[in-house]
Amino acid sequence: MGKNKLKRFAINEQSENVIQAGKQIYTTIKGNWNKVQFPHNQPIILEIGCGNGEYTIGLASHHPEFNFIGTDIKGARIFKGSVEAKEKKLTNVAFLRCRIEYILEFFEPNEVDEIWITFPDPQLKDSREKQRLTHTRFLDLYKKCLKPQGFIHLKTDSRELTDFTLETLKNYPHKDLAYTFDLYNSDFLPNHKGIQTKYERMFLAKGKLINYLKFRLD
Ligand SMILES: C[S@@+](CC[C@H](N)C(=O)[O-])C[C@H]1O[C@@H](n2cnc3c(N)ncnc32)[C@H](O)[C@@H]1O
Repeated sequence: MGKNKLKRFAINEQSENVIQAGKQIYTTIKGNWNKVQFPHNQPIILEIGCGNGEYTIGLASHHPEFNFIGTDIKGARIFKGSVEAKEKKLTNVAFLRCRIEYILEFFEPNEVDEIWITFPDPQLKDSREKQRLTHTRFLDLYKKCLKPQGFIHLKTDSRELTDFTLETLKNYPHKDLAYTFDLYNSDFLPNHKGIQTKYERMFLAKGKLINYLKFRLD
């Protein structure tokens, strides 16, 4: 492992806004985010596969009345989000380093108010279908920690993932589905507050359309 990565991991270990294996809080945070992590007891918005955390930080800057948790498995990416949140003095931001498959080890039923899935790997091979973050096995997990009224938002450049998600929802109880295949030419755009992630910028530079879906699980 490179020196830089080791340095970043060491800083993550000391950072109060990073929850990861090896810290005591990692095993006790479930059900306690608003008691022990955040200074204000506020609704919790979860970003899944947050990468460098641009969306979590962007939304948190616009919405101090919510608490935001970015989750990702990669420590070096979480490091970037953690440092930026500290520089911006955003006390309503935390990062959880974990595989999304284990999300229920960190959240009680109804602990999450909203979920954002931003530019996940579309996992296009048939053999990878179960890895897609809108597969029913993941929707089942989200449903167990999300409030009944909570929206799930998906932003992606992948029309295939969008179509897969729409197909999945045909057989999965949901409500209030709304979507566009071209976010930047849609009425949804103002809600995104101009926030772009690293991957979004890459896809836009290649001229790709950005798809956006939101729905509630029923
Ligand atoms: C394509 S990147 C997108 C990152 C960021 N959302 C963006 O838009 O720039 C997907 C991210 O999801 C994370 N990821 C993929 N599978 C994951 C899993 N099972 N659990 C946690 N994170 C995962 C990766 O580490 C990566 O940072």
